[in-house]
Amino acid sequence: MGKLDGKVAIVTGGARGLGRAYARRLASLGAKIVITDIDLKSYTEFDAEAKAMTAETTMAEIIAGGGESIGIEMDVTNEAAVNAMAEQAMKAFGRIDILVANAGGGRGRPVDTKASTLDSSLLHLVTSMNLYGTVYSVNAVAPFMKEQRSGKIVTVSSIAGLGPSPDGGYAHYGAAKAAIAHYTKYLAQDLGPFGINANCIAPGIITTGRIVATVMPNQAGSNRDRTESIALRRLGGVEDCAKVVEFFCTDLSDYVTGQVIAIDGGIIRSN
Ligand SMILES: NC(=O)c1ccc[n+]([C@@H]2O[C@H](COP(=O)([O-])OP(=O)(O)OC[C@H]3O[C@@H](n4cnc5c(N)ncnc54)[C@H](O)[C@@H]3O)[C@@H](O)[C@H]2O)c1
Repeated sequence: MGKLDGKVAIVTGGARGLGRAYARRLASLGAKIVITDIDLKSYTEFDAEAKAMTAETTMAEIIAGGGESIGIEMDVTNEAAVNAMAEQAMKAFGRIDILVANAGGGRGRPVDTKASTLDSSLLHLVTSMNLYGTVYSVNAVAPFMKEQRSGKIVTVSSIAGLGPSPDGGYAHYGAAKAAIAHYTKYLAQDLGPFGINANCIAPGIITTGRIVATVMPNQAGSNRDRTESIALRRLGGVEDCAKVVEFFCTDLSDYVTGQVIAIDGGIIRSN
């Protein structure tokens, strides 16, 4: 018997990285999983992600493990497509109990995205992928959860949404992720009377294939060890985040809502 037997979970951006880890963990607890992504084979972009795959897609991995899963390719910035995805999930599984609004990320370089010189197209893109994508996903599932009078929603901020970078770079991403954390507190107030919990995670530096390939090499010239500023003296792994998602998606957090938990090993952002 799994803790989430009979439950249905949607994970946006579940084709690789953190989203894939959330999907696989919730599936291991018994939930039926709807994987959504702009590209259900996005893992092909990064060697480490491709190497980690044990089947053709996250859905296939879950099915091979004895679970149930479907994949829906869609862009979270397209409101109509997000609504259609929720309808399709209902048609396939008859209910929606969990949403992990994980799709998102940053674009552009920190040096080009300082707070006072933000490129407007990057601002639009990153706000759409993160904040709008999260709000569209919530709007799409909330009517079904309200009807059921239960549900668990997990949104995804970042340590960049909790405090600024020392040089003011990546301001578009930080602002969008801060907005998601704050939005989640409003969401908890709105949906609490329906028995729906809404909480937010704020990951630190987590070694997904994307981070290893795009962020870490930029630090190669630095003579500082990144882990010096992390209390636990190590970078995060995807399972570190998946464990907290499990907490927010199961009965362990039944009386917890409107909270933001940093999953950052106790980082001090000084470099
Ligand atoms: N890895 C980290 O260190 C870290 C730290 C803080 C926050 N986060 C956040 O966690 C989430 C996942 O991060 P990750 O490192 O696994 O990223 P990733 O880029 O490896 O995975 C993101 C997934 O989302 C999909 N996606 C991107 N845009 C989309 C869109 N418009 N519509 C639908 N799907 C889309 C991608 O195809 C990809 O499969 C993101 O929201 C990111 O901002 C990550």
